[in-house]
Order: sequence, then C-alpha cells, then structure tokens
Amino acid sequence: MCGIVGYTGTKDVREVILKGLKRLEYRGYDSAGIAVRTDEGIYIQKKKGRIDDLSREEVPKRSAGIGHTRWATHGKPSDENAHPFLDCSNELSIVHNGIIDNFNAIKDELVEKGHEFSSETDSEVIVHLLEENYEGDLLTALKKTIRRIQGSYAVVAVQKDSDELVVARNQSPLVIGVGSQEHFVASDVPALLDHTKDVKYLQDGDIARLSKEKVEIWDEKEDLVERETKNIKWDVEDAEKSGYEHFMLKEIYEQPQAIHESILGRLTSFEDIDLSKYDFQEVQFIACGTSAHAGYVGRYIFEKLAEIPCTVEVSSEYRYTSPSDSTPFTILFSQSGETLDTIAAAREAKRRGCNTLAVTNVMDSSITREVDEVVYTQAGPEIGVAATKTFTTQVIIIYLLAIELGLRKGVLNKNKAERYKDELRRLPRKVERILDDKDKIEAMTERLAKARDVFFVGRNINYPVALEGALKLKEIAYVHAAGYPAGEMKHGPFALLTKDTPVIALAIKDHTFEKMLGNIGEIAARDSPVMVIGDEDKEVKKLSDYAYFIPETLPIFSPLLVNVVLQLIAYFTAYRLGQDIDKPRNLAKSVTVE
Ligand code: G6P
Repeated sequence: MCGIVGYTGTKDVREVILKGLKRLEYRGYDSAGIAVRTDEGIYIQKKKGRIDDLSREEVPKRSAGIGHTRWATHGKPSDENAHPFLDCSNELSIVHNGIIDNFNAIKDELVEKGHEFSSETDSEVIVHLLEENYEGDLLTALKKTIRRIQGSYAVVAVQKDSDELVVARNQSPLVIGVGSQEHFVASDVPALLDHTKDVKYLQDGDIARLSKEKVEIWDEKEDLVERETKNIKWDVEDAEKSGYEHFMLKEIYEQPQAIHESILGRLTSFEDIDLSKYDFQEVQFIACGTSAHAGYVGRYIFEKLAEIPCTVEVSSEYRYTSPSDSTPFTILFSQSGETLDTIAAAREAKRRGCNTLAVTNVMDSSITREVDEVVYTQAGPEIGVAATKTFTTQVIIIYLLAIELGLRKGVLNKNKAERYKDELRRLPRKVERILDDKDKIEAMTERLAKARDVFFVGRNINYPVALEGALKLKEIAYVHAAGYPAGEMKHGPFALLTKDTPVIALAIKDHTFEKMLGNIGEIAARDSPVMVIGDEDKEVKKLSDYAYFIPETLPIFSPLLVNVVLQLIAYFTAYRLGQDIDKPRNLAKSVTVE
C-alpha cells in the first residue's frame, strides 16, 4: 500500500498535493515526495520519513504535479527509494502504488539499453519504460508501458512540457476528483475531499488523461468510456476508513486484496530467500499474540505439506526453554517487527546458533536487523489494534514456504503442489463470499453479546483458529472467551457449560470430523447453545443452534476462511456492546516492553 495524489489546475500545486498526501498517511509513511512540472524540467523533492519532514522551500509555481507517501515493499525506506521517480532526461516523472511482478527482467533489459536507475524499487522501471516508449505523446507511451508490466499498479505520470497527467490502474485503487477548471487523482477519496466531492472511480485496466479542462478515460480494450461521477457524502475521517465505521472492519474487508498481493510473484518460485543455504530438518516458530496463532496454524501446514517437524513457542517464554541438541531453523512472526519479546527471542535464537527468518509486514522494522533473512507480508498498514489481515498474510507466507520446501524435499510432486497453488489463487474470491454473508454472521452475535463466557473449540489445524477466535472476542468485545481442543472440553470446561454458555465449534471435513460431530453432540446435550462454523453437513445442521458453512476448500486451507468468520463475529459482538473497536482498552498495536 502507498498513497498517491496528482493535480492539474490553477491552485498552488504543492499545497494541494501535500494536503492530499496527509490524508493518505494511513496508507504508509516510510517516505514522501512530490514532483512538479516546470519549464526547466521536473522539480522534485523527496525524503525518507513523513510528509511533514519535506522541506518547505519554495516550489516554482506550475500547474501540474504528483505526490506519493510510501509503504515500502521493494527496497528499504530511504531517500533514494522515495517516489516520485524521474527518467534519465528529467522530463518525465511517475508515482506508483502496487507491485510490479516482472520488474527484474525489465530492469535488466533497460540497464542494458543504458538507463540509469537510482533506487532499488520495482516502481522505477515504469518511468524508464515510459521514457523508452515516449515518442511525443505521454498517453501512447503509457499504453505501451502497461502492456509490458505485470502485477498491480496505480500509476500517475507527469511531463515537463504539458499540464496533463496520465494515469493507469490495475488492482490498486485510483479515483479521479472532478473540479471546475481543475482535476485531481488519488489512491483514495480523503485526499480529494478538501476540494471536491465529485469523483469517478477508475476500474482495472483503465487509463485516463487529465487536464485542467477535462478527463478522458479508456477501458482495457482502449475504448473511450464514461465512468459515472459519484457524489461522496462522507466527511474526511469517514473517508479514511473508506466509509467503514472502523479500521478493523476495513482491514477485514481488505483481506482478499492482501492475500492477492502476498501470493503475487511467489507462486512460480519463492525467491525471497535462498532456501538451499539452510537446513530445514526441523523448524521452530516464535511469536506473540495473533502472530503466535499464525505459527500454531503453520505447524500443521509445515508438517503436512513438507513433513518438517515443528515446535511453536510464545516469544516471552522462549528464553526459558532449554536449547535443544539440534538447532532448528527459526521463523519469527511479527506484523509490526517491533514487539520486544519477539526481538529478544530472535537474539536468543541466534545465540543458540539457529538460522533465523523474520516474517513481518513492516519494511526495515527492528526485527529485520536481528535475523538472517526477512520475508515481507504484503498486507499494507494495519491500523486497528486487533490484527486481522496480517494474520491472514502470515499464514499465506507459511503455505508458500511449505509448498516450496515440500517440493524440494520430494514430499510434494509438481501436480500436488500446483493443486495447492491453484487453491491459494482461489482464496481471495472465497473470502469475498464470506464477506458478502456479513449479515448472516452478524445475526449470530446477538447471543454472544449477552454471554459472560464463550468457548471456541476446534481440532487439528482448526484448534489454533479456535484460540485466535477466542482472543479476538476477548480483546475487542471484552467477553471472556477460551479456545480449547474440542476433545479436551470434557476434562474440565464441561463443568462451566450451561444454557447461557455459547460454544462456537469449528467443524471441517477432515479426518477429525466424525470426532468433532461427537463433541458437538456432547456439548448440545449440556444445553449450551452450539454455533458451528465449518463445512456444509446435514448432521451439523441437526445438532447445532446455528451453522455457517464456509465455501468449499481443501481442509488445509480452511483456517483462513474460518478465521475470517471469527473476525466478523468478534467485530459485530464488540459493535453491539458499543466497545472502542479500533483501540481496545489497555492494549497497544505493538508492544515494545518485555
Ligand atoms: C499486540 C497486538 C496484537 C498482536 C501482538 C503481536 O498484542 O495487540 O494484535 O498480535 O501484539 O504483535 P506483532 O506486531 O509482533 O505481530
């Protein structure tokens, strides 16, 4: 995720762009920059850090410009990697949000042709391709350029000799603001609302040209099209949440995109690290909170897909374990990369001689300096304190790694690996189907909002999902909840079951299904309301008070889908109870004390 803004009109270009970028800081704030056209060339100002860190020096007044606030994906946060980028002649400039999948190949080709690159980013190839394709018309050059690039992009380009902006969109958002004698373009509406409430949402494959006077849009077939102008009713704060009432809900809804971004470029080969350098006889996962639950799920995935034995430790406990004789490859999960317990565990693992890998969502975060290797999830910034999309993308990275290691070890053959990868590709659509059912899921929460205690039970790979479901309900709804292996309920918690103690049972049709049905029957016999999330089944319908069936998938992928349902359950329960969902009491997004 990154935020981009473009403007053409008669106002102070720099002011319009900087104000717009400020409204998009929620999309990332690793670096910021602007490019304004002048007769001498493109004037550029860019810097690591926040928008307010950009110098306030006078910018030559001109009528078109672009700006960017960055969430680093390729290349660490630095002045050099900050957008906008310039071509070799200083006549063209672009900003980009997204990931260019085939940038390495394009970069090699362009370097060969003599182009000089100033950054490590994937985005910079776009401006050099534009330069290569430019024969007097920027729009034609952009059309040619996007035919070459694969991946996701929202691009805005400006040139020295014209007030026009050209833009293109594929899988990254872009919206045009319609004004009188001025036009705007941005990643999201908050950047526009100080100037206009009339917007046109671009669609995937669209290319547009904006001048002071008009907007022209072409679709992916290059036909000139009209995109409806919509009037936005939200105020700026609502708009930052894209109309969602809470960041948490917005982030739950961003999961299809986050999955898509995280698998992008990693399905053909997992090139993030050179796996052949390391010994994967044994692996340990270390993390805190929701990230630890991703590790617990990961253990089942690694054991099944790669037949690699795994242990999972909570970061704050790791140091008290005795070092084993072997030195397991250690994977630390931390969305923020700043959790002190996890950083301390990374140091301890190194001290014990383990090779270490951090899976994090934040480029250049502290943990990245403590480990041998880093893999970035591509979830975009997560603002809600309760982790949602970062859990999902951590688990996605685990699938990708396990498939790759399974292939290398010969546990998986090519066909089997492809079958798993195909299912990964289908997951975003399946998550969308669950999100479309939000009203059905919301209906379940009436009972939960009245409960004092709730149990979540699961077996096998869905047991850690039960832990995560319970954690979410506790942290944002303040309803006491416990996750249990379904088979353990009879060893204690049964004493707490009454008609007022709802139990959420996760029932997936794997080799534990029959046993799970038995457990559901036992719980129902104690008069506890049973709510089942899982695969469609007649018996489940009969036994339960409420059942929600997830879209069909292979059992190994069920945790991701089931967990989205549990996120919505926690959210709507908290909502009914009127809790401060994005900022639960006593909690913090990243915990930097031990
Ligand atoms: C805090 C957050 C949780 C998060 C945990 C670990 O407790 O509230 O949502 O799961 O820290 O954070 P990390 O950034 O290391 O994944």
